[in-house]
Amino acid sequence: MASPLAKKAKTNHLASPDALRFLTSSQAQDVKAKFGTPTYVYSEAALRENATQATSFPNAFGLTARFAMKAAPNLAILRLFDSLGMHIDASSGFEVRRAREAGIAPQKISLSSQELPDNFAQILDSGAMINACSLSQLRRIGEARPGCSVGLRFNPGLGSGGTGKTNVGGPSSSFGIWHEIADEVEAVAAKHMLKVVKIHTHIGSGSDPEVWQRVTHMSLALVRKFPDVTILNLGGGYKVARMKTEKGTDLAICGAPVRETFVKFAHETGRKLHLEIEPGTFMVANTGSLVCTVQDMISTTKGCDEGLDFLKLDAGMTECIRPSLYGAQHPIVVVPKDASRVNQPPQEYVVVGHCCESGDLLTPAPGDPETIAPRNFCPTEIGDICVIESTGAYCSSMSTHNYNSFPQAPEVMLAMDKSLVVIREKQPVGQIWQNERQVAPETRIVHFSKYHGLGNDFVLIDNRSQTEPLVTPEQAVKLCDRNFGIGADGVIFALLGEEGCDWTMRIYNSDSSEPEMCGNGIRCMAQFVSALEGRQGEERTFSIHTLAGRIVPTVFANGAIRVNMGKPELNGPKVPTTLPVDKDGHVINTPLSVGGQDWQVTCISMGNPHAVVFVDHLEKGWDFDVVGPLFECHMVFPKKTNTEFVQVMSRTHLKMKVWERGSGPTLACGTGACALLVAAVLSGRAERKCTVTLPGGDLLVEWTEEGTVFMTGPAQHVFSGETHVA
Ligand SMILES: Cc1ncc(COP(=O)(O)O)c(C=O)c1O
Repeated sequence: MASPLAKKAKTNHLASPDALRFLTSSQAQDVKAKFGTPTYVYSEAALRENATQATSFPNAFGLTARFAMKAAPNLAILRLFDSLGMHIDASSGFEVRRAREAGIAPQKISLSSQELPDNFAQILDSGAMINACSLSQLRRIGEARPGCSVGLRFNPGLGSGGTGKTNVGGPSSSFGIWHEIADEVEAVAAKHMLKVVKIHTHIGSGSDPEVWQRVTHMSLALVRKFPDVTILNLGGGYKVARMKTEKGTDLAICGAPVRETFVKFAHETGRKLHLEIEPGTFMVANTGSLVCTVQDMISTTKGCDEGLDFLKLDAGMTECIRPSLYGAQHPIVVVPKDASRVNQPPQEYVVVGHCCESGDLLTPAPGDPETIAPRNFCPTEIGDICVIESTGAYCSSMSTHNYNSFPQAPEVMLAMDKSLVVIREKQPVGQIWQNERQVAPETRIVHFSKYHGLGNDFVLIDNRSQTEPLVTPEQAVKLCDRNFGIGADGVIFALLGEEGCDWTMRIYNSDSSEPEMCGNGIRCMAQFVSALEGRQGEERTFSIHTLAGRIVPTVFANGAIRVNMGKPELNGPKVPTTLPVDKDGHVINTPLSVGGQDWQVTCISMGNPHAVVFVDHLEKGWDFDVVGPLFECHMVFPKKTNTEFVQVMSRTHLKMKVWERGSGPTLACGTGACALLVAAVLSGRAERKCTVTLPGGDLLVEWTEEGTVFMTGPAQHVFSGETHVA
């Protein structure tokens, strides 16, 4: 955080509030309703109008108008200007790449870069032009591609910009080759047989038209030195009037004397030079508006004569850094929720951004980012829309993206038919840190608790700190290893709740697969989150989001857990299975040959797929270890299957063995116990409420008349610890 800003400017230099530039109040409200705030909006009509003006720039012997794409490099804007006959000025190898991505032909791209990209030779080979911006750039180009055509960006010795920071000519500027060393440049070009076809000078942004015209003469002196030059590029920098007090450049007026100069030069030398211009600001500055919301207000006026009233926006230096950087002035317009406030006497406010940074100021004094300059606005309230105007150039492209981890705002085009078209989506917040990595993954410690539900055991991890599981599926396999790891059937992650649930559960099986749900796992999860919430021993109901939907377990004071497992899915293709279905779409007691034996299977999904098979005896007449894996991977189960082999002991007691998808034989499978009860009821073998004996113990399962399955059983804490994951 920077130090506090300097005192307030003495005068409020803008007495009457600004007006919206191209949006109407209702369009601004529409933008907020459709895309949220902050959102950049560009006017297609204004972009087209500016392209017409740039391509009509006065010229004697031909003109190429290049858009300085750094000002607003969105692909939709590049494509629009390309379709309107403009070429491109790129400032880095990456901008060349971006312009190519927009479908712009390399022959239309010219690169003038502070850093020659590593692939500059390929850029030249593609047909794009490079303006060498230093002697060393020229040498490198000559060495890599002797004999090629190049441009030379010169610093003509004179500059002019709207602010000191945007003046890029003269002795205190590092931009371009210093004009006094033209002889050395000539020697390097000769050594590598380079053909110098273009002289380029760009002296600043917001430059004085008179200085710019003087520089034209200085540039022509450089042209005389290089006989192969056919193009003179005079850069960009044309002033635009953002504020009503400012005066913009009229291209037709400022270009006319330059045209005359070219004609005179041709008379003197016989050389008819082609003119290039490179406007950035001019093309886009006033074609963009940033629609924001006043998200807070602060006042320091009580008991303080020097106090101020602040409007805090939901945008700031993260979307528009020019005021903080240059003391640049942008019109700012409050669109009140209640339109009648527009007509009330204005009040003085300072407008600040949302960053934890005192320099995040949107109303500095002109040219002085350190001094606060309040402005007049209609009486404003939290929730009002606030539009920062003239934000088309060097705002979206140049701001402090992701400072304070605010995601990049979306960009929208107000199209010719007045529709609002997204040209850049809002940045998904996870993209901000998606490329970040652990310093040393091998030393990472994970805290865990081990639980089991009837011997179906799990490693449980408190995963509230992140939205993705703290270990990878591969690391989960290692944790589950019974010889070299903790030993478990799976790893369960307790994440913050999604979709209105208290918690979210994810599971990685011991083979790295991710099941949708696990009945024993969810009981362990319920005990674990009771412990995390410090509510062990209390009766408590949780809603838990799983990949199979919302599951609602109740933990009783005695430690038993009753889980609402939802309704069984009986539709065959949805289970999924490709076995033939009956008239209701179900697969019940359907013949299937597996391992050379004929079976009758009932297919049910309890959020995960199950095949239920009734056998005369669990231990006799068939080989579990052979048949289990054959069922799991049988072609009629496109997502594989869990298989329950069931012996009916009585109409209220069923006994089972389970082969779990991804884990093999386990001591218990909660969803399997539910599935088999449903299968037993459907085939008339059992009552709706039964004890199901699993290898690890008993579960009480009930399928209510309303169709919901409830499972009650234990889950026990075994031990807790910490382990290293690599
Ligand atoms: C080489 C070059 N050309 C053109 C421009 C565009 O300037 P402006 O946006 O002020 O028109 C710049 C801006 O920095 C530049 O460096």
